[in-house]
Amino acid sequence: MKIKNLLKTLKNISLRRKTIKKSCSSLEKDYIASINKNLHPGLITGKVSSIEAVSKACKKIRIESKDVPLFKAGSYASLILKIENTITSRAYSIVSSPLTSYKEKYIEIIAKEKADGFVSAYLCHDLKVDDEIRMEVGLGNFVYEPLRDKNNILAIAGGSGVTPFVSIAKDINERNLDVNITILLGDKNYEDIIDLPLLDSLNSKRVRVVHVLENKYPSFNSEVGFIDASIIKKYLKEDTSIFVSGPKGMKDYLKKELSKLPMDMRKVRFDVEPTGTLDIQEEKFYNIEVHIGLEVRNIKAKNSESILVALERNNIYVHSACRSGECGFCRLKVIKGEYLIREENDHRRYSDKEACYIHSCVTYPLSDMVVKVNIPSFLNEEE
Ligand code: FES
Repeated sequence: MKIKNLLKTLKNISLRRKTIKKSCSSLEKDYIASINKNLHPGLITGKVSSIEAVSKACKKIRIESKDVPLFKAGSYASLILKIENTITSRAYSIVSSPLTSYKEKYIEIIAKEKADGFVSAYLCHDLKVDDEIRMEVGLGNFVYEPLRDKNNILAIAGGSGVTPFVSIAKDINERNLDVNITILLGDKNYEDIIDLPLLDSLNSKRVRVVHVLENKYPSFNSEVGFIDASIIKKYLKEDTSIFVSGPKGMKDYLKKELSKLPMDMRKVRFDVEPTGTLDIQEEKFYNIEVHIGLEVRNIKAKNSESILVALERNNIYVHSACRSGECGFCRLKVIKGEYLIREENDHRRYSDKEACYIHSCVTYPLSDMVVKVNIPSFLNEEE
């Protein structure tokens, strides 16, 4: 009797499988999967179609790809670059508008050359039109969110920190959104302003760009000095969400200035700061034993550089995007060893902390270590 029942069950399983297979093949297209792929295509390949100097130190780079998804204004693209023998990633805010980017299948970013900037030097000098770039588009949380943010935005930017606001302002103009944005843009000199014609073109009934120059430029309409409490007060309306984007020094200064104003600091949002190095007086080197599947490698890491940077310098690629501790892509497991994570960069979940997972872009070694990493599948596919 038992055998008879078993045979019956097996027959039913096989019948069920055949029915499911038949019904799936009768569907012409999986619409849910295709919508999901449009919104979150993951890693896509693009081709550089133009590179244009837009200030003394900045280049605007347009990258075309048939897979550009519809992203939120203010989000960033993570470019995955092979420079010499190193594979690394960098996050750049997208300056093109979401709708135009989606329809015309390109994104634009602005790269600023930094002193000792390994990647920025590559983007500003070595990258050529027609070069291929792999990237993830539409990442990050520094975006305008109608359910959370007010209809009035005061966007405070320092130098190239203006880029996410350019995309937000374009989006407001293009879709005629019921949102008003004033961009207070601080620069040292007139010559430092990024893409002035582009910034001028943003001004509309809903968008206003106000320049604040440290050094006055003859016949140029601007505020003069630093963006401080008195300048912010002049442009602050009631019921406003404040977004701040720029270098760390400027954000620290603004935190103090904003606290002088009678306002709710919960309405102030700061962009995340990519990091990778620590200011350390006594440089030390540690050994890190890295387990990659069955392979074990030993690398030297400085106490002043993040574990992610140490891995990349040793040609071990770890998936990364924000490089500021926020996204969690660079997560890996510590088997042994001491490490430092600054409180402001520690965005790990409680369970990850308990299980000794770290975000390697914001973790610095304090002793010899043993870690376990996953190699992203796209690298394995390539090889
Ligand atoms: S790259 Fe985003 S947390 Fe490290």
